[in-house]
Amino acid sequence: MPLKQRSQSMTQRKSIPISPSELTPREVYLERRTILAQMGLGLMGALGGSVSLSAPAQAEQKLTGYRTTPFGHDEKVTSYENITTYNNFYEFGTDKEDPSNNAGTLRTRPWTITFEGAIKRPRQIGVDDLLHLFPLEERIYRMRCVEAWSMVIPWIGFPLQKLVQWAEPTARAKYVEFISLADPTEMPGIRRAVLDWPYNEGLRMDEAQHPLTLMAVGLYGEILPHQNGAPIRLVVPWKYGFKGIKSIVKIRFTEAMPISSWMKANASEYGFYSNVNPSVDHPRWSQATERRIGGGLFEARRKTLPFNGYAEEVAHLYSGMDLKKYF
Ligand code: MTE
Repeated sequence: MPLKQRSQSMTQRKSIPISPSELTPREVYLERRTILAQMGLGLMGALGGSVSLSAPAQAEQKLTGYRTTPFGHDEKVTSYENITTYNNFYEFGTDKEDPSNNAGTLRTRPWTITFEGAIKRPRQIGVDDLLHLFPLEERIYRMRCVEAWSMVIPWIGFPLQKLVQWAEPTARAKYVEFISLADPTEMPGIRRAVLDWPYNEGLRMDEAQHPLTLMAVGLYGEILPHQNGAPIRLVVPWKYGFKGIKSIVKIRFTEAMPISSWMKANASEYGFYSNVNPSVDHPRWSQATERRIGGGLFEARRKTLPFNGYAEEVAHLYSGMDLKKYF
C-alpha cells in the first residue's frame, strides 16, 4: 500500500469547547500512538516493506474554517481515545478495537460519491469538492448504540438536507439509501460474511432533510479518523448508532423503502426506523438504560430517553405511527 496522498492541509489547531481535563488524556494518547506509529514505520522502512499511514498520522490533520454552534455544549464529551478506539465498523472486524487497529489500510483519497435513482440527473462528486460546497459546523450529539451504551461526540459536518437539495431529487423520491465502500483489499472484515456487503442504510426523505441529520467529515476538530467512517459518514442522533453509516460511496434516491444490511441480517431485531426507544426492547436485551462509555466502573447506568433526548425536535415526524410496530 503506497503512502497515502493527503489533500487536506495540515493547519493550526482549532480550539473546541472542551475542558482541559478532557484534553490532556487525548494529547497523551496521541503522543503515545504517534511514537508507536513512527516506530512501526521505521521498522517497515528498514525491512524494505511498504507502509501505510495509520490512525495517529491522520489524527494530526486539523479541520479549519468550521463554525462552532451552541448545540450540545451542556454535555460532557466522551474522550477522544474512547471515541476512536471503541468502534463498530465490521468491514474492519467485529471487535470494538478492530477498527482502530485495522482501518489504517482504508484509502480515503481520491474518494467519489455517486448519486443515482430518482434525481434530475445521476452525478458524481469528489469528497473535497463537496467540502467546498457546504460550510462546516461543529455539533455535539449524543450517540446511543443499540448495544445499550452511549457516547457524546463533537462532530464536524454539514446538514444532509443541503446535500439532498444539491442532488435535486424528483417527486418520485420517497427514501434515501446510503451505501458504504466494500473493498476487500482495504477492508479485511469484508472477507467474512457477517453482513451482506456493502453495508447500506436508509432514511425517509423527511428524516434525511431534518436539520439535525448530519453528514460528518470530522470530530474533535480533526478530519474523521478512518475507524469513525472517513472520509464521510452519516449521523442521525435520534436513531440507534447503526443508522450512522460510514465511508459512504453511493447515495440513491428511491421510491421503495431500502432494506438495510441489518434488516437483511435479522429483520425481527432491526427495523427500518431504529428510533431510540426505551419502551421497545431489543429481543435479546433491554433498551431502558444505557452505559456511558468512559464513565468508569461505578457510574450509574442512565435512563435512555425517547428519541435519544431529541424528541422535541423530531417526535412530530412520527405522529400517528405505532412505534412498537415501526421499530
Ligand atoms: N457503517 C459501516 N459501514 N459499517 C459498520 O459496521 N457500524 C454501525 C455504524 N456505521 C457500521 C457503520 C454501528 S453498529 C455503530 S454503533 C456506529 O457506526 C459506530 O460509530 P463509531 O464507531 O464512530 O462510534
